[in-house]
Amino acid sequence: MTKIVTPYNDQNRSKKEQVEEMFDNIAHRYDFLNRLLSLGIDVTWRKKAVKFIRAIAPKKIIDVATGTGDFAFEALSLKPEKVTGFDISDGMMNYGRQKAKELNADHIVEFIKGDSEKMPFADNTFDAMTVGFGVRNFQNLEIGLAEMYRVMRPGGRVAILEVSQPHNTIIRSFFSLYFTYILPTVGRLFSKDARAYSYLPESVKAFPEGNAFVAILEKNGFKQVKWQPLTLGICAFYSMEK
Ligand SMILES: C[S@@+](CC[C@H](N)C(=O)[O-])C[C@H]1O[C@@H](n2cnc3c(N)ncnc32)[C@H](O)[C@@H]1O
Repeated sequence: MTKIVTPYNDQNRSKKEQVEEMFDNIAHRYDFLNRLLSLGIDVTWRKKAVKFIRAIAPKKIIDVATGTGDFAFEALSLKPEKVTGFDISDGMMNYGRQKAKELNADHIVEFIKGDSEKMPFADNTFDAMTVGFGVRNFQNLEIGLAEMYRVMRPGGRVAILEVSQPHNTIIRSFFSLYFTYILPTVGRLFSKDARAYSYLPESVKAFPEGNAFVAILEKNGFKQVKWQPLTLGICAFYSMEK
């Protein structure tokens, strides 16, 4: 049984409520801290994932757990008709909405608030889906995955990125040091949310990664599921089809 790690360890509120509050709290610093803490490498991970969905020339794309929309904007390079950014935190998406205006892309990229575990879309709606660093935050992972599967059209492609732990023992020790001490300190300093960047390593440790996550994806219907470690294994890229 997977341990449920929550942002504020508050027994009286669901993980979902706490996750929404946390991302609302850190939204003003999210993009800045992402670039700083990943040294800008996160941009290359999203590019790689978008390259995978390019092959089917998707017209309707959904970016689940879109946050401030970086994956959704990256998908614009595929010249889609519509990109839907979907997230539980309006605080995060408000920055996405602002960026869409600045990029003159607000007629293509729309942001819809909602829960990935209960999406307001018909079956088989989307040609392609991206999810960046979102699945780890779901309250019920399998309900979220079943919903993701439902809204995809048969043959559609899904690209998921998630933070992971390197397998090499030496790299893993450095990563653990960075992740447990440096990242929470820098995160706390800039975001003013004492827990957000401690929840990050805790939730990564509790999340099933690599082959374990592949098995869960397959159990939920996804086909051709493959995964590969990126950047010494600090990120995992999962690719699949419905
Ligand atoms: C770490 S951020 C990732 C944002 C963006 N995808 C990126 O690549 O930077 C995780 C996002 O997942 C969203 N999220 C978490 N649980 C969710 C749920 N059940 N439904 C929708 N969004 C959710 C959070 O609100 C947050 O914006």
